[in-house]
Amino acid sequence: MITKICCIGAGYVGGPTMAVIAQKNPNIKVTVVDLNEKRIAAWNDENLDNLPVYEPGLDKVVAEARGRNLFFSTEVDQAIDEAEMIFISVNTPTKTYGVGKGMAADLKYIELCARQIARVSKTNKIVVEKSTLPVRTASAIKSILENTGNGVQFQILSNPEFLAEGTAVEDLMAPDRVLIGGDTTPEGIKAMNKLVDVYATWVPRERILTTNVWSSELSKLVANAFLAQRVSSINAISELCESTGANVNEVSKAIGMDSRIGSKFLKASVGFGGSCFQKDILNLVYIAKTYGLNEVADYWEQVIIMNDHQKRRFAKNIVKTLYNTVSGKKIAFLGWAFKKDTNDTRESAAIYVANDLLYENANVVVFDPKVEETQVYSDLDYLETRTSDENKTMLKVVTSPYEACKDAHAIAILTEWDEFKDYNWEEIYQNMQKPAFIFDGRNVLDKNKLEKIGFKYQAIGS
Ligand code: UDX
Ligand code: UDX
Repeated sequence: MITKICCIGAGYVGGPTMAVIAQKNPNIKVTVVDLNEKRIAAWNDENLDNLPVYEPGLDKVVAEARGRNLFFSTEVDQAIDEAEMIFISVNTPTKTYGVGKGMAADLKYIELCARQIARVSKTNKIVVEKSTLPVRTASAIKSILENTGNGVQFQILSNPEFLAEGTAVEDLMAPDRVLIGGDTTPEGIKAMNKLVDVYATWVPRERILTTNVWSSELSKLVANAFLAQRVSSINAISELCESTGANVNEVSKAIGMDSRIGSKFLKASVGFGGSCFQKDILNLVYIAKTYGLNEVADYWEQVIIMNDHQKRRFAKNIVKTLYNTVSGKKIAFLGWAFKKDTNDTRESAAIYVANDLLYENANVVVFDPKVEETQVYSDLDYLETRTSDENKTMLKVVTSPYEACKDAHAIAILTEWDEFKDYNWEEIYQNMQKPAFIFDGRNVLDKNKLEKIGFKYQAIGS
């Protein structure tokens, strides 16, 4: 029986996952550690509105478990030393340098974690990979642990996370499946069973799958690639619908009712974002290329190419519709997060659309219910298209949707936040430049209602 767990990385994955494990296992002490002191302080904030990750329902889970058997700390060594099981949940961004630049996952944080675990551990440990990693990372971790450790035994498991942001708590409480990969040796199987027991306190056993390590690692990449591929497929069809007079919502519904296809992940949009889809597909492509499987690599790369096209096409259409120039025109962005119900903006389509419009000298004004101003600027600065000062001059972030839309030539919907539907659209219309355009990148607003008010409304795929 495991009694102490440590998780390295208190981010979007580590934080919520450990909170739920702790809530469901009051007998296990769960300590989440992170190098980032501010982040840990936010996890420990008395005021649950200040948790660093916004997820519906997360505050309640943290409130119940924190201080009882859930702890957030910067004392990494101590937590590693105490724990019998260590989750690695640090970020694995796409490499921005060297071999595999722009494609391969940067594993430097993972390696640092492995070395730290090796240095600190005095008793046997089970190390669990939670971060999405390229296939065969477990063997790299194993090699570091075995060659630099203090002679203690390590078992490496892969336990990829399938939670989606915005529904993290729901997904963790009732997962479709929990996947655990490990060695097929007796010790490996024993380690897997210990992790199975942790989940089995609330997940039905038949939903907990055990596989070999590589199947588990690969399954995570493949799951995300399949999901992203559905979005790119429907987005490809959205462009065809716009040219032919078909309606992509109707096509989605019609094909989704085929039980072999299924109705989920068929929403046409301005493009998928998030920390995982692009990174994981690039990883898959890189792995395929490494093995000389060029057709396989090209096949999956097309999912990314389509997604980039969809984002660019959305920006281009705004420029074209606004009489081929947006120079000096105010364009209001409603939404900056990569999807609703999260404050995460990684790879959000909004960043790229804004960048394209700024390139055309537009004045972009952003409102998002959960994203902070500093995050918006840091997302833009990261692209290194222009200086930080230029970004601050050309793009503004406001805290009211009505202020964002006041005197705007056009509104672009970039995230499908529910509250957008309930705005006072008459008032917004009155205060805009005419003709007042809306480009609905998420197909969330009511076309008939808006056209009745006087808006020129354009959706994706119709
Ligand atoms: C990350 C990866 O992006 C994802 O691929 C993987 O599946 C899970 O881990 P996420 O939790 O969303 O997802 O990342 P992030 O919110 O950036 O959290 C990572 C945390 O690890 C950060 O708080 C960072 O400070 C911390 N970290 C990073 C460490 O504590 N130590 C390190 O060496 C590196
Ligand atoms: C994804 C996977 O779903 C999850 O299992 C994995 O653990 C991490 O990656 P996440 O990135 O949080 O989760 O969000 P997801 O709901 O998958 O959406 C990804 C992107 O696709 C978002 O930008 C979303 O707006 C977009 N999307 C999704 C569409 O454009 N259309 C759809 O029909 C579905």
